Amino acid sequence: MPSKLAAGNWKMHGLQSSLTELGPIAQTAIATGVSTLICPPATLIAAASTPGLHIGGQNCHAQAQGAHTGDIAAQMLRDAGASHVIIGHSERRTNHSETDADVAAQAQAAWASGLIAIICIGETLAEREAGNCLNILTSQLRESVPEGATAINTVIAYEPVWAIGTGRVAEVEQINEVHDTLRANLSARFTDGKEMSLLYGGSVKATNAPEIFICKNVNGALVGGASLTAKEFCPIIEALAAH
Ligand code: PGA
Repeated sequence: MPSKLAAGNWKMHGLQSSLTELGPIAQTAIATGVSTLICPPATLIAAASTPGLHIGGQNCHAQAQGAHTGDIAAQMLRDAGASHVIIGHSERRTNHSETDADVAAQAQAAWASGLIAIICIGETLAEREAGNCLNILTSQLRESVPEGATAINTVIAYEPVWAIGTGRVAEVEQINEVHDTLRANLSARFTDGKEMSLLYGGSVKATNAPEIFICKNVNGALVGGASLTAKEFCPIIEALAAH
């Protein structure tokens, strides 16, 4: 069975004062036994270290070090205490023009530093409406996930771009269709593809989490807005524990 993961992406939110949310989140993680990850801004990674929680970065550069002002290297995230890093989030792909090839190179950099790469893929609304989203996603998966991916070093997150931060969550049928396709592709390509964790992301809340977690090939969630407070995130962890 793939392992369950409740992952929170704080994006460009959070100051030292926000870290008080982590205590209760860790308590819920420990009480439920669900592996729980918070990816705060890089400035908070070291300070966010909390027993019972995994801490991750939100992106890393493909190079190990160098003249890349404003970027962050995988080994810096690891050095600060991160165990995971989100790679290829649609906000990086859109706002920073990151391509599938960039994402694949970043995933390799993450692995080289001992980080687990959470590789994100997702279609735009125009791509979905054009009816070719499964082809788009299969291609993103193939090109963004390099050879060498295993169930230990990689987690895949499906996040429809139109569902991120919009309050519009994908229908259960849409999630099933995509996740079943991703599972088939991963199983065909990687020896332990059946074991890789597949997360759904995009407007996941306590209210919709239970129906999303019923989906056979959904092993957890990548949560933005609702991961910022323990009040909203803990029920999502509990919902994942129940499925
Ligand atoms: P959201 O973000 O939960 O706020 O929609 C999800 C994500 O971008 O990872």
